[in-house]
Amino acid sequence: MATASPPKHPHLGAVLVTGGCGFLGHHLVRALLDNPSVSSVSVLSRNPRQNRYPEVSYYVCDITSRENVQTLFKKIQPRVIFHTASPYAYSDPPNPARFQREIVEGTANLLACAKELPSITSFIYTSSIMVYATNANRECIMADEESDILHGPVTRKNAYDESKATADTMVLAADDPTHFRTVCVRISGIYGEGESNDSVTTRGLNMVYSGRANIQLGDNTSLFDPIYIHNAVHGHIFIANALIDELDGPLKTKSNGKVHGEAFNLSDDSPIPFWDFLGKVFAEAGCPQTREGKTVIPNWAVIAMCCIAECMYWILFLGKRRPKDFLRKKLEHVYRTRTLNIEKAKGRLGWYPPIPMDEAIKRSVSWCVEKMGKAKSN
Ligand SMILES: NC(=O)c1ccc[n+]([C@@H]2O[C@H](COP(=O)([O-])OP(=O)(O)OC[C@H]3O[C@@H](n4cnc5c(N)ncnc54)[C@H](OP(=O)(O)O)[C@@H]3O)[C@@H](O)[C@H]2O)c1
Repeated sequence: MATASPPKHPHLGAVLVTGGCGFLGHHLVRALLDNPSVSSVSVLSRNPRQNRYPEVSYYVCDITSRENVQTLFKKIQPRVIFHTASPYAYSDPPNPARFQREIVEGTANLLACAKELPSITSFIYTSSIMVYATNANRECIMADEESDILHGPVTRKNAYDESKATADTMVLAADDPTHFRTVCVRISGIYGEGESNDSVTTRGLNMVYSGRANIQLGDNTSLFDPIYIHNAVHGHIFIANALIDELDGPLKTKSNGKVHGEAFNLSDDSPIPFWDFLGKVFAEAGCPQTREGKTVIPNWAVIAMCCIAECMYWILFLGKRRPKDFLRKKLEHVYRTRTLNIEKAKGRLGWYPPIPMDEAIKRSVSWCVEKMGKAKSN
C-alpha cells in the first residue's frame, strides 16, 4: 500500500525565538518544543541564562547588531521567527533612546536580515494593546485591528508605546507574500506562571499578605482586559500555523481570509473591572472581599497621588528614577478602560482563548502562592 510522502518542510520547521528566555518567550519555547511540527528551537538573547531548556540552542545576541544577527540567521537557517524581545516598559532610568534603539532599530535589523535569507518565510511579531491610539478621554475601548495606531516620532513621554507601534507598522510593511510573510500579534497585559513581581497576580497577592487588600485604588468603573500566558502562547502558535498553512497552499488553508500582512488582537476575551479581577485573585488566595470595610480612593485622587509622587521623584532624582508604584502610566488600568476586540482572530482564524479566565486565575494564584512560599522559606 502506498504511504503518503512526508511534507517537503516540517510544518513550522526550524523556529527561532528572540527574547526566548523572557516571560512570554520561554513559555513559547516550551510549547514549541512540545509541537511535533517543530524540528528545532533556537533562542537569541543578550543574556540567555534564565528559563532554559536543554533541547534548545541559545545564542548570545543583541538584536540591534547587524553582523551578529546575520551570522546567526545563516547558522540557524530558521523557517519561522517569533520576535518577542523587548526592553521592559518601566525600567529606570527612563530611556526613550533605548526603546527607539532596541524596539524600532532592533526590529528593523531583524527584518532586514531575515529578508536576505530564503529559508525564513514567516515572521511573527509580539506587539501590544499599547500601540492603539486612545480617544479624547485617553481610553481605548474595544479597539479592533482597523483602529488607529500611534504613529510619528518616538517621544520621551510615550516612548515605549510609540516604539512598539513603529515596529508594528514596519513589520506589516515588510510583508511580501512571495517569500516573506509577517504578522503582528497585539496582546493585552499578560499574567500567569512566570510573571514578574510587577505583574497583576503577584501584586494582588502581595496586597493580601501585607493586609492592603481592602484599599481600592480607583472607582472600579473602567475595564481591564488581560491575557493569560498560556492563552497568549496558544494564540502565537495558532497564528504561526495559519500563516504557514496559507504559505503551503490555499487548499490547506483553514483560515477565513488573509493572514499574512495582518495584525490580530488577542486577549482572554473577558474584559472586567480591574478590582473585580483582583477580587477573584483575592478569593482564590483565600481572602474574599466584601464591599463593606473597603476604602475606595477615587480615580481623581489616584491620579493626583501619582502626579505628586512623580514630581517628588523628579525633583529628588533629577528625572533618573520614577516611583515604583505611583506612576500614572503604570496605574492607568485602574482608572482608564483599555480593551481589545478579538473578533478578527475568532472569525478569520477560528482562534478562541482556550483557558477561561477563572481557571487562568486559579492556576496563576496557585503558582504565585508557591513562589511566595518558597521566597519566604529561603
Ligand atoms: N508582559 C506583558 O504584559 C506584555 C503585554 C503586551 C505585549 N508584550 C510584549 O510581549 C513581548 C514579551 O514580553 P515579556 O513580558 O515576556 O518580556 P520580558 O520577560 O522582559 O522578555 C523580553 C526578553 O527580551 C530580551 N531582550 C531585550 N532586549 C533585547 C535585545 N536588544 N536583544 C536581544 N534580546 C533582548 C530580554 O533578554 P536579555 O536581557 O537576555 O536580552 C528578555 O528576556 C514584548 O515584545 C512585549 O512588548 C508584553
